[in-house]
Amino acid sequence: MKLYRSSIFHTPENLFNNPDGLVALEDGGVLVQDGLILECTDFSSMATKHPQAEVIDLRGGVLIPGMIDTHIHYPQGRVLGGLGMPLLEWLEKNTLPTEAKFSDSSFARVVAKEFLHSLVSHGTTTALVFGSHFASAMHVFFEEAAQSGLRIAAGQVVSDRLLRQELHTTPELVYQEGRNLIQSFHARGRLLYAVTPRFSLSASEGILEACAALTKEFPSVRFTSHINENTEEIATVKRLFPQAKDYLETYEQAGLLSQHAVLAHNIHVTDSELGRMATFQTSASHCPCSNSSLGSGFFPFRRHLQAGVRVSLGTDVGGGTGFGMLKEALQAFFMQQLMPDGQKLTPAQLLYLVTRAGAESLCLETSTGDFSSGKAFDAVFIKPMPNSPLAVILQNAEGLDRILPSLFALGSSSDVRQVWVGGDVVYSQPKHFSA
Ligand code: GUN
Ligand code: ZN
Repeated sequence: MKLYRSSIFHTPENLFNNPDGLVALEDGGVLVQDGLILECTDFSSMATKHPQAEVIDLRGGVLIPGMIDTHIHYPQGRVLGGLGMPLLEWLEKNTLPTEAKFSDSSFARVVAKEFLHSLVSHGTTTALVFGSHFASAMHVFFEEAAQSGLRIAAGQVVSDRLLRQELHTTPELVYQEGRNLIQSFHARGRLLYAVTPRFSLSASEGILEACAALTKEFPSVRFTSHINENTEEIATVKRLFPQAKDYLETYEQAGLLSQHAVLAHNIHVTDSELGRMATFQTSASHCPCSNSSLGSGFFPFRRHLQAGVRVSLGTDVGGGTGFGMLKEALQAFFMQQLMPDGQKLTPAQLLYLVTRAGAESLCLETSTGDFSSGKAFDAVFIKPMPNSPLAVILQNAEGLDRILPSLFALGSSSDVRQVWVGGDVVYSQPKHFSA
């Protein structure tokens, strides 16, 4: 039995339903046995109750639940940093040429390792990952993901038009390759499979139907795609699906919407679409850095909440600006502050968005996302380098309410000291890096 002692923040509830649902402990403890949390409360009361527990002393830093990224692209780690183009031009010039290289499995393996390392070193313990168009690249990705110890839901990306010939497939192959990947990797250890048409612009009805055949046959797989990101994209989808009344209906008609579906972006969404997403319990992954970088638009957060649609956060590497979920939350905060009808987000809501909200979107909230009893010990220990601006704030903070916002304003991967999934250490900051 281990007792982790630290300042602790976590959100065991939906912070939009209960804005007071933050748990903040100045000298807290998480009691863990066999990777599962037995209790999380004040250190002193637990130390008295469990004198035999081994104390892991993490004072001087902050322990939060492992962060959860619900939209990120594995083949785009090396695409990051290309600023200044709108979505469709960025795809054609920056992204798709790189994604075509994933036909080479040894290249795919190198990038998979880089990608998974970047996730964990930023404190992300669970991610819904857009994969590669190549089944071979997904085999190596899942092998590396299993090695990493992270919780990964991912799938082969499928398309049959308007990209590049080498990225196109057929409905028959979508079904065959998808079935094979599901049987090899879905629900193995910490892995899940996510059926992933790229977006309706590049996926014919036949492709969407093949995707639906997979989600019907394997109802526990997840589903993800893009939606309502860019006005030119939306106009093209309208032309390609004249019978659909809106973008959502292209997925809806195929039977792809459920509580297992996560749709990324959803900026230019209609009220009717929001109402139907709520009915299906389909969630939206909000990607504010990508939306800013590609100039896609302002996310209508308030309208999502009013309609009862769940929202979580995604970095959207490489349309976004990096792997950091703290930064992503900060950008969400900024954009909502600046929007005329923005949803003002509190620091506690930002914490909820980078942790439990993602678990809820992925239907994993019974196993991860906060420190409630019975959940896996998925955690990030944040302790900034001495003398850094964040360290100065933590040392001098007069109350916990100064600490939480400063993590978002100033925190980065250089402050992530250690990361656990299911009680296993999956990352420790290299010694030369930390003082
Ligand atoms: N829509 C289709 N493909 C992509 C992609 O790779 N990134 C983003 N942001 N949107 C997309
Ligand atoms: Zn994306």
